[in-house]
Order: sequence, then C-alpha cells, then structure tokens
Amino acid sequence: MPITTVNGSQFGDEGKGKIVDLLAEHFDLGVRPTAGDNAGHTVVANGKTIKMRLAPSAIVAGTPVIIGDDVMINPFTLAKEIEDLKSAGVDVDNLLTVSTNTHLVLPYHVYLDELNEVGETPIGTTKRGIGPAFADKVNRKGMRMEEFVSPEILKKRLEQLTERVNRMAVALGGDKEFNAQELYEQLAPAADILRPYVGPSAQKIHKALAEGQEVLIEGAQGSLNDLVFGTYPYVTSSRPIVGGLLAGAGVGPKHVERVIGVMKPYQTRVGIGPIVGEMFGEEADLIVRRGNEYGTVTGRARRVMACDLVALKHTSELNGTTAFALTKLDVLDESPKIKLVTGYIVDGKKADLFPTNLDYAKVKEEYTIIDGWNTPTSHIRDYDKLPKQVKELVNIIEQFTNVAVAIVSVGADREATIVRHPEMVLPKRALAAYQK
Ligand code: IMP
Ligand code: MG
Repeated sequence: MPITTVNGSQFGDEGKGKIVDLLAEHFDLGVRPTAGDNAGHTVVANGKTIKMRLAPSAIVAGTPVIIGDDVMINPFTLAKEIEDLKSAGVDVDNLLTVSTNTHLVLPYHVYLDELNEVGETPIGTTKRGIGPAFADKVNRKGMRMEEFVSPEILKKRLEQLTERVNRMAVALGGDKEFNAQELYEQLAPAADILRPYVGPSAQKIHKALAEGQEVLIEGAQGSLNDLVFGTYPYVTSSRPIVGGLLAGAGVGPKHVERVIGVMKPYQTRVGIGPIVGEMFGEEADLIVRRGNEYGTVTGRARRVMACDLVALKHTSELNGTTAFALTKLDVLDESPKIKLVTGYIVDGKKADLFPTNLDYAKVKEEYTIIDGWNTPTSHIRDYDKLPKQVKELVNIIEQFTNVAVAIVSVGADREATIVRHPEMVLPKRALAAYQK
C-alpha cells in the first residue's frame, strides 16, 4: 500500500516542509491536496532556504509533484513561486502539475477577506482571500483552473461574477469596484504562466498507485485549524486532517500505509482564538527567538504554548496517526523546564473526553513539568546520544498518545535529523539506506 501522509498535529507550522523534504527523495510522487497560499512551508536544502506557499514541498528534492484538486490558488503567488523555484535550480517544468479542479483566489476575494476582518467578528486570517474563495466555491460561484487558463471562458466567467462581488463588497462597507475587463487584463499574464502546468490530478495519482508507485501526500496547516474539528470559528476554511487530504487528493483510505503527524515539543498559533497552555514573558520569548516563530505569510510573532498532549492525542485519533515526527527539539535547548499539558479541567471537573468547542475556551490546564537539558542538540545524529531529559520527554509523549516518535528533528537543515524508526516513515524499498 503505497501512500504516506504527512500532516500537522497542532496549529500549523510544525515543520512539515522539512519532514516532507527529508522523505521526498524516496517517493515517486508528491501531492499537496488542500488549502492555499495562507500556508507557508520552509525548506532548507543544500544551504538554501526556500519558502513555498502552494507548490508541494517535495518538489525541492526533485520529486514530481501535483497541486491537487482541493487547493485554492492565488495565480500571482503561484506564478511567482514557479519563478523562484526555477531560480533556485528546481526543474519545475518537468516536475509540476496543477490540477484542473483547483479553484482560484481572485483579487476581489482578498478584498472581501480584508472587509470581513475589519468587521465586528475578525478571526485573524492571513488576509489572503482564502475564506471568501472557498465560500464562493461552496456557493458554486467559484472559478476553476480549467476555466482560468482558457481565455474566452475566463473573460465570460469574470463578467458573470464581478457584478455580484461588487454588491457584496458594498454590503460589507467596501468602496472599491471591480471591473471584469480590468481583472481580465490583470489576470491574463498569470494564466499564461500557469497554463502549461495544468492537467488532471486524481487520475494521475490513481495511475501511479496502480503502477505500485510510492505517493507522499502532504498537508497544510494543522489539525487544530481544521474547519470542522478545529476551534471554530478561529479555523481555516479547508481540511488539514488526513481525511481532508485524501478527499482533496481523490483517493480512498485503502492505499494508506503510513500517517505521519508532525509536532513540535511546544506549540504555536497565529491569529486569534482560544489556546491552552499559553506561555508568556521570557519563557515564551526564548522560544519565539530560538524557534524563529514568526508567520511565514504574515510575519506576525506566533503565540507560544506548552506542548498539549491532550490535544495531540485527540488529533492523532482524528488523523489515525501511525508515527510522529518531532521537530524543532533544539529550540528548547536553553529552556530550564519543559512543560507538557497532560490534563484538562472544565468547570472544575477533569475532562475525560476532548472538550466541545465552547468548553475548550474554558479549559484550565494540568501540567507535567520535566527538567530541561540545557545543552546543544543540533549536532546529534544518534538517538541514544540525546540527553536523558529528551528521552524522558519522548517517553511521555509516546505513553500518553500511544503513538511512536519515529523522527526527531534537531535543526532546520535536512541533515539535522534523527530517523529513529525508518520502517515507520519510509517505503520498504528505501529502508536499506537507513539500516545502521
Ligand atoms: P485563513 O486561513 O487565512 O482564513 O486564516 C484562518 C486562521 O487559520 C487564522 O488563525 C490563520 O492564522 C490560520 N492559518 C491559516 N494558514 C495557516 C498556516 O499555514 N499555519 C498556521 N496557521 C494558519
Ligand atoms: Mg507554515
């Protein structure tokens, strides 16, 4: 069964890009099936830092990739990203397919997102227009990639859509008017750049699976940002859980062999919304600084929390996680104490089920606190050589969640990684290279 998924177990920004980049060379095909340029993935390879928002991270390793059916594409972002990847030496022309079924984020979606966010109930979006674009998609008023790259259809669709959008903008207090012809002129050059990459996605994945190829499906954002299971309404408009990834890729679960959940030994959140285990002051600043915890898309300093094992267990169940990749361990190298949330109290009672959305905002956390290791870990490549406090941390995570920590990442670079259980994260044919 040749599908491996990699997705976020927390609130996003767990370091999925790095893990995908590490694994990608062992796979025949990489798929990014959901979300839009609200996501930001950073890959550090061969001394170069590459930031991506839409292209699957697997492309950096030279693996053929597909932007899958449920992705929301800002054409300007993708056109620019293609150019950036090319100048970083990536063979984009031979590696990238963009699904005909992806939808477009158009300039008016960005404007509607801004209008929503200055209204009475902002949720702290990335203001990339993702929510309004998904709303149009669900409302059957969206623009699909297949239409976008066909000049006649693009022109006609813009004429159909623009008048309604202008009325919506006025209703939301806006004063900007969009004109179909102007939009067409603005968008046509980006359509020209994207056209050669557009093709079917799910069908290609099915063919790859039928041929026994190994497919790596990568998520965007984290499970706690999930539209349905996250802290609604402070969530994104797509589905970062594994079920969402499979739906976006157009494949059933029978092919899935490995479900890798990426997690940090602390948590961060951008935007607003309730959080459990928040850290403040020097304790938080140290992590923001050492972990460079600023939004890739927005530049906002992320809010920092203790690693929440109650939530992690919940998301591992939502996803069917079979192994964790623990990233950014080295960020805690100077933290005197390591805090883990290991219990929730709601209305004075210990919660035995994960709380409902309204109760989550009332949670009082219980902590398990262990000593920090106060020593650098970034140079370590052997699990046994990690400080004993790190092993204690890993043990607590595994005991609490019943999921093994298969990868430990100790730095941003591809090399700064300990693959502790290769058989849990790599296709069988790739194991030989990893056997000690
Ligand atoms: P939107 O996705 O821009 O609509 O924003 C909705 C919420 O999801 C906000 O709290 C964002 O900060 C959050 N969000 C969206 N994309 C990401 C991501 O890639 N990482 C972390 N949070 C994200
Ligand atoms: Mg990110």
